[in-house]
Amino acid sequence: MNTIPEEFQITALLNQDTYLINGELKKWEGQTTPVFSTISSTDAYGPTLLGSIPFMGEAEANEAVQAASEAYNNGQGLWPTMKVADRIKCMERFVEQMKTTRSEVVKLLMWEIGKSLGDSEKEFDRTVEYIYDTITSLKELNTRSAFFSKVQGINAMVRRGPLGVVLCLGPYNYPLNETFSLLIPALIMGNPVIFKPAKHGVLLISPLLEAFRNSFPKGAINIVYGRGREVASPIMKSGKVDILALIGNSKSAIALQDQHPNKNRLRLILGLEAKNPAIVLPDADLDLAIQECIAGSLSFNGQRCTALKIIYVHESIAAEFNKRFAAKVDALAFGNPWEKGVFLTPLPEKDKPAYIQELIDDALVNGASIINEKGGQTTPNAIFPAVLFPVNKAMRVYHEEQFGPVVPIMTFSEIQEPLNDMAESNYGQQVSLFGKDITTIAPLIDALVNLVCRVNLNSSCQRGPDVFPFTGRKDSAVGTLSIHDALRSFSIRTFVASKDNAYNNEILQALLNSKESNFINTDYIL
Ligand code: G3H
Repeated sequence: MNTIPEEFQITALLNQDTYLINGELKKWEGQTTPVFSTISSTDAYGPTLLGSIPFMGEAEANEAVQAASEAYNNGQGLWPTMKVADRIKCMERFVEQMKTTRSEVVKLLMWEIGKSLGDSEKEFDRTVEYIYDTITSLKELNTRSAFFSKVQGINAMVRRGPLGVVLCLGPYNYPLNETFSLLIPALIMGNPVIFKPAKHGVLLISPLLEAFRNSFPKGAINIVYGRGREVASPIMKSGKVDILALIGNSKSAIALQDQHPNKNRLRLILGLEAKNPAIVLPDADLDLAIQECIAGSLSFNGQRCTALKIIYVHESIAAEFNKRFAAKVDALAFGNPWEKGVFLTPLPEKDKPAYIQELIDDALVNGASIINEKGGQTTPNAIFPAVLFPVNKAMRVYHEEQFGPVVPIMTFSEIQEPLNDMAESNYGQQVSLFGKDITTIAPLIDALVNLVCRVNLNSSCQRGPDVFPFTGRKDSAVGTLSIHDALRSFSIRTFVASKDNAYNNEILQALLNSKESNFINTDYIL
């Protein structure tokens, strides 16, 4: 029986028929693309129509590039030259309006990407907090730069300035939070942004369009819809993008970079694939390791770049680990996002269950078994996580980033085996290490920190708290994101210098006293 709580039912379609360009919500009269949820609203399964979005093309892409370029105006536009304090005011205006959209955005997060109610609320709240923390961090950065230093007879005021037009593309698993972890620092540092929402989780941006329009000067933020090929490609080909900020797939990141005619001018801020391993040592606290490996591999159905995507268990404890791990996986509750206590939820990509099934079939052919009873059970929009053991390098699931509900487990006898595998891997984001004996752990930590960028001791991998640096080695990332680092990633050091003599100093003093310049300014923002 259909038991969708009244407040979460889809009672009207959300047809997004405007887009934000040059400070104007322009009416879209062209072709549209329907937006479906893989969640059913009826007892007999069927996807739910949520609404539609514009299907844009080259003309709108060029319009967005034009608006953003004009807003930058070679660094002379209103937004890039604005006082930091005034940019902060715009952002504060935005976040205040954003907070009023919480219930709408949370509801759409559940329907569009199947994220549980609690996690959807967390995503929204974490994003609001991220914006406030970014403002605080920018105030500190501003305060720390608000002085002249004298070196070898030269007075200099060094600050951080914007880089230019940013193309911002976020992932479907965190369509709000991760996208905003790029967009907000990019914008607040004075860069005009062109933002195209992810393939899933696109309607949830609709409630925010007016807040964007009301809060920022024209052209500072431009929001377009459509497919990457039709919209992002012409934007890159224009050569007018200075930063490509993308969290998602490395194939798209490479294709987009290749389309830019001036590659050395293009800065990259990328969060890409990962295959984070868990390593369970013989003396690990198994209850803790199992609990963390379940959260690490299966929260949001494994659709996290930080998810544990392969588990190495020492051969001496593998039998016990597997038995208890498999039983705990089978006990996980599956249901629609608003259902109480639900852990596993429908997958937003309609082809995902079939892909996960392919990985399972391939592993079975190559010698693995499904060691949990419910593993691989499918419904039209989900597949129950299969725990695969023993996994080996002949299997696709060893190499591919599954980004979904399947957990491969391998054994090791010598610790050098997982270390070698990590060294050979194309990825290098994080690792989870479970154990206690410090004579074993100490040298391991010293090696692991050079293979990845975060070693999680007796805990699952994760991005947060957002004050910590989020990055990766090898093909997993370009640049570093955190509240503090993102402000630096989206800006460049630039300064005014003059020889220390009476003539120059008088001019500098006059500039400071008059407050005519937004750059040469020693105001503190409290
Ligand atoms: O998709 C990758 C996200 O950055 C993961 O973030 O660890 O907070 O889930 P999370």
